[in-house]
Amino acid sequence: MDLGIDGNTALCTAASSGLGLASATALAAEGADVAVCGRTTANLETAERQLREAGDGDVLAVEADITDPDHVSAFVEETAEELGGIDHVVTSAGGPPSGPFSSMDDDDWYDAYDLLVMSAVWTLRESRPYLEESDAGTAVAITSRSVREVIDGLVLSNSVRRAVIGLVKTLSREFAPEVRVNAVLPGAHETSRIENLIEAAVERGEFEDYEAGYEDWAADVPLDRIGEPGELGDVVAFLSSERASYVTGAAVPVDGGSMRS
Ligand SMILES: NC(=O)c1ccc[n+]([C@@H]2O[C@H](COP(=O)([O-])OP(=O)(O)OC[C@H]3O[C@@H](n4cnc5c(N)ncnc54)[C@H](OP(=O)(O)O)[C@@H]3O)[C@@H](O)[C@H]2O)c1
Repeated sequence: MDLGIDGNTALCTAASSGLGLASATALAAEGADVAVCGRTTANLETAERQLREAGDGDVLAVEADITDPDHVSAFVEETAEELGGIDHVVTSAGGPPSGPFSSMDDDDWYDAYDLLVMSAVWTLRESRPYLEESDAGTAVAITSRSVREVIDGLVLSNSVRRAVIGLVKTLSREFAPEVRVNAVLPGAHETSRIENLIEAAVERGEFEDYEAGYEDWAADVPLDRIGEPGELGDVVAFLSSERASYVTGAAVPVDGGSMRS
């Protein structure tokens, strides 16, 4: 299937590894020029190599912290200037700290809000003029299945991410008809985020070792395994494409069937 995004430009936040990078890679493989950001030079260099191997388009890898609105603004401007506009936005983020309600103080809550919600607000506000200029404008927010079904030990993700779904649904109406806005709800995918969560659970004594934690994450998945990041990236590329031209305001689970709702 030709996704019809060859030659378009995609901006992907927090995409120097994990699900953001997997999404950028899927878009690059379809011929899009891609810009990614992250905080760490080493991650960005690895990401840039992967993206150049994935497709023939231009690649921009920019050091930017998405919790700083000035960084977000500079990333958007540099992308539009260097790559000639922006047709697609994909918002990802780092993961907020894991843990129960009792372990979080006010700063944890406000930091999670900046990381997960305000980063998307700033990115979409700055990108909007470029998306509206495009004849193919789309935005996809990478959130979590926790927006539908809470996950034990992830109070910040369970609570704060729901604001992103409210934002996506609202913008799918306010940005229409020029720009389509959707969300994906990943279940467990094998990235460093999941490795860190499993290791934290082992440290809290919830699992004997890493393997036991890994098996627990996969146990309730009907497809019987944790997802590959590329399986999420392909859905993001599809939602960004002409082939999804009548899909907006959707929150699409990509979770191997884990959710029961
Ligand atoms: N993996 C899963 O199974 C899963 C499931 C549900 C939801 N999610 C959510 O999906 C999102 C991505 O997860 P992931 O597994 O891909 O995480 P990951 O492997 O840890 O990757 C996170 C990426 O974000 C970058 N990043 C983190 N904080 C940043 C900041 N403040 N500014 C700019 N870049 C930043 C990281 O690079 P630097 O550290 O170099 O900045 C890295 O490139 C997270 O919000 C996560 O909670 C993941």
